[in-house]
Amino acid sequence: MFSKEARQLLLICIFMLCSAPFLSHGRVDPKYKLKAVNLGGWLVTEGWIKPSLFDGITNKDFLDGTGLQFKSVTVGKYLCAESGGGTIIVANRTAASGWETFKLWRINETLIFNFRVFNNQFVGLDANGVDVVAVSESPVSTFEIIRNSDDPSRVKIRASNGLFLQAKTEVSVTADYKGEGGWGDDDPSVFAMTFSGGLRGEFQVTNGYGPEKAPQVMRDHWSTFIVEEDFKFISTNGLNAVRIPVGWWIASDPTPPPPYVGGSLAALDNAFSWAQKYGVNIIIDLHAAPGSQNGYEHSSSRDGSQEWGATDANIQQTVAVIEFLTARYAKSPSLYAVELINEPLSPGVALDTMTKYYKAGYDAVRRHSQTAYVVMSNRLGPADPKELFSLASGLAGTVVDVHYYNLFQDIFNSMTVQQNIDFIYTNRTAQLNDITMANGPLTFVGEWVAEWQVSGATKEDYQRFAKAQLEVYGRASFGWAYWTLKNVNTKWSLQWMINNGYITL
Ligand SMILES: *[C@@H]1O[C@H](CO)[C@@H](O)[C@H](O)[C@H]1NC(C)=O
Ligand SMILES: *[C@@H]1O[C@H](CO)[C@@H](O)[C@H](O)[C@H]1NC(C)=O
Ligand SMILES: *[C@@H]1O[C@H](CO)[C@@H](O)[C@H](O)[C@H]1NC(C)=O
Repeated sequence: MFSKEARQLLLICIFMLCSAPFLSHGRVDPKYKLKAVNLGGWLVTEGWIKPSLFDGITNKDFLDGTGLQFKSVTVGKYLCAESGGGTIIVANRTAASGWETFKLWRINETLIFNFRVFNNQFVGLDANGVDVVAVSESPVSTFEIIRNSDDPSRVKIRASNGLFLQAKTEVSVTADYKGEGGWGDDDPSVFAMTFSGGLRGEFQVTNGYGPEKAPQVMRDHWSTFIVEEDFKFISTNGLNAVRIPVGWWIASDPTPPPPYVGGSLAALDNAFSWAQKYGVNIIIDLHAAPGSQNGYEHSSSRDGSQEWGATDANIQQTVAVIEFLTARYAKSPSLYAVELINEPLSPGVALDTMTKYYKAGYDAVRRHSQTAYVVMSNRLGPADPKELFSLASGLAGTVVDVHYYNLFQDIFNSMTVQQNIDFIYTNRTAQLNDITMANGPLTFVGEWVAEWQVSGATKEDYQRFAKAQLEVYGRASFGWAYWTLKNVNTKWSLQWMINNGYITL
């Protein structure tokens, strides 16, 4: 009969097969967990990760989504889309906030734009061709900003009829001022302009460079920011996976709709071949869905608006992107998981929209791969951290992704080093326990960073903070992923943190 050793081996094999939560590429070790790093800022641009990517853009302060506010020098008040949009433009606000902010849609490298208001209508001229209104759902009129060369914060705004806007009174803003005039405080066409917010994402960088320059700039970025050597670094420093953010336009490579440019798919192909060479697993992460699922630059929002999921066609288009990517890489031994969408934001994305998409996206992955895990990102904003469980629990090989940053919330603003660390051991442990259930989906801390609001922290403080997170997030049943591999902000660069001894795996 079998030797003792052979029987033991057999028993171990049976045990592993039965207890594996999910079989993936023959990996049957239920204790296998990802120690991953995100490749942020590579195939989906984020300006804060690599600001120099924007250096060559003409008029780079005026990108898509940049907010401008205009104070009339004669009336002494701000232009405002009354009611936030849907009616006239007035000039009767003493302070500027949302309704007084005009978001740019850039046309080319000149200072000619469409203006979008708070409720997303576009500024144009009324049927009389004179009164300035914000009623159209699509861009109708262009406006040119002319800056005073002596003081570029003083501007005039020329409408498409060739005439300048003027604030005649607090309730009458018209496009009928003829004189070039001067730049004095008595000229009703002069406004003091201030900047209010903006985005530096993929839409901004590609539309900013325009169709002539963007293809080369982006290809240079893709081929230099992440290279084969990085996969070697990853595999030799205790990591076993990468989470790669991609944008929806990758599915129509090499000719994505403008302003996006082709070539990111070839870069992703390279990642798969390097991953295979160095034994690294890949999570493909749809970080930017068509229309933007959260209004942030990292989902390639054009102007801060969140329009993903509004129609069935939009959802079907997104499912097709998932299907395309899964089909393309299903045979690669490196494809470990597909994340259907990153950080949908509640309440803009409703739960029923979310679950409908997640079900369809799951099916799309399964049409091509029985083994890839399907990752579902929890909604940001007001949402129950277990809201996806009834859906995910009924489907094999699902993972719920949560992002844990000791940032972006007021509660962290005044925390000390020790309070931050205690928060990890106490509160993050509790949050993770809450979502880790025997028959539920696996849990994944798909983004975290050893950065905080503490100023003047020492290297040892950072080391303790990182160690606490590694310990706690190491209990997530699917694993974790640091945000991100490379970043000019050093603590956000796992490569820098490892090379400088802040993090050891
Ligand atoms: C500004 O003018 C509009 C239009 O007349 C009016 O409805 C609104 O109440 C005014 N707002 C202020 C703050 O004066
Ligand atoms: C920029 O766009 C405006 C408006 O469409 C057009 O009139 C102008 O010729 C364009 N300029 C350049 C340099 O492309
Ligand atoms: C962290 O958890 C502790 C213990 O449950 C609780 O008292 C505290 O309020 C939590 N801290 C925050 C900032 O939520």
